[in-house]
Amino acid sequence: MNILFCSGEAYPFSKSGGLADVAAALPKALNQLNHQVKIITPLYQQIKVHIVDMTHLGQATIKMGHYEKIAHYYAIDFEDVTYIFVENDDLYDRIKYYGYEDDAIRFTFFNLAILEYIKLTNDFPDILHVNDWQTGMVPFLLDAKYRQLNKKFGSIKTLLSIHNLEKQGSYPIETEKLFGNKNFTYIHLDRVNFLKCGIMRANAINTVSENYTNEILTRFYGFSLDGALKSRRQDLYGILNGLDQDIYNPLTNPSLYQNYDESNFLEGKKINKTSLLSELKIKNKDLPLIIFINRFARQKGLDILMPVLEQYLQNQRFNLIAIGSGDALYESYFKDLKDKYSDHVYYEKGFDVELSQKAYAASDIFMLPSLFEPCGLNHMIAMKYGSLPLVRETGGLKDTVTPYNKFTGIGVGFTFKNYDANELIETLDESLEVYNHNQEAWQALIKQAMHVNHSLEKMAKQYEELYQNILNQK
Ligand code: GLC
Repeated sequence: MNILFCSGEAYPFSKSGGLADVAAALPKALNQLNHQVKIITPLYQQIKVHIVDMTHLGQATIKMGHYEKIAHYYAIDFEDVTYIFVENDDLYDRIKYYGYEDDAIRFTFFNLAILEYIKLTNDFPDILHVNDWQTGMVPFLLDAKYRQLNKKFGSIKTLLSIHNLEKQGSYPIETEKLFGNKNFTYIHLDRVNFLKCGIMRANAINTVSENYTNEILTRFYGFSLDGALKSRRQDLYGILNGLDQDIYNPLTNPSLYQNYDESNFLEGKKINKTSLLSELKIKNKDLPLIIFINRFARQKGLDILMPVLEQYLQNQRFNLIAIGSGDALYESYFKDLKDKYSDHVYYEKGFDVELSQKAYAASDIFMLPSLFEPCGLNHMIAMKYGSLPLVRETGGLKDTVTPYNKFTGIGVGFTFKNYDANELIETLDESLEVYNHNQEAWQALIKQAMHVNHSLEKMAKQYEELYQNILNQK
């Protein structure tokens, strides 16, 4: 199959969250199954240094109401996948990817530029695979302006993957002037809503875990789009994300102080822990080490985590490493915590990939008490590195973290049900109890966690099947 994978970000060129990882991993895995998948994504400021290595494919004029702007297309191959970049310096030569007043223009441009790319190159995909709000308008614009151009445009099918339902690309109704064609499917609560448009118009929709697919049909998790999603229930699927085992493998990762696998994790993790804590100047190296590595967003459960951590640090119950950035409120919380408990806490703003790898390898517990979680990727990395996830039973976390059962020893981590700090405390106490007093059970859990294979190939095969289903639709 020929697939054009459309994404607002794609690792390693741009990344603000897990979407970027999936945007790199899924096309790579599908190509290994002999499909032809290309990625198309904007050429942001940080990517410009790579232009010298890219091929210029051509240009197109993008008409948006009375605006007209030029898109230049560049291509580069990375790990056997072709990345197509859409360049327009007015729109994308900026520090951030999203969060500007003219995002409606920036991303209407991108959505149209995707379709113009197809026209320019005559490289017609069987499936246009769009992701999240950033590319949610593509199915509508395809229907409204391109299908009638020729048979090949006419027969393209579309899939929308939802990685984040909270961010919807919701803009004032005047935005519709950019589209040239009016339609009620992009309107939601009197505004233009990119994600709702994708939900209503794509041939099929999927989220990134089975459990989240059911959750989003409820008011709590639906972020006001539960109604729209319910109306598409027949075409709604769940496919669990996979993890790129080439990148996240403690046996081969060059960043680690010591490589290890299931057979020697005890020594391996110990060396990583002692070395990393020395480097970070954390004194008591015998305490359990907990890590929080994620986007600092409300989604990630920080509102129940913040009132809990300090009492444990005061009593020296564990050491903590936090890595990430996001909302200023959460960044300053971790900064203060580091200043106050510098013997026990290390905080690094941003996403230092190498430090993160070391922290996964060194740590005992990976904390993610999410409010909601479409899938979650970092806890899967943690499991591979033998750091046990402590998570709330929501979204993909529920599908992937079997909780420890003290009677049978089964499990790969620790979980709790309600979004409640007291439940988090109980679960944290339970995990520390096992760590401190039942090392035998703890080590069995590590083995079980490391053994789980969230394979990319499995994910790619499920997408392959879904694409095929869509192509078989009338
Ligand atoms: C988003 C979600 C996360 C998911 C990722 C990739 O970042 O919040 O749960 O794993 O997308 O699909």
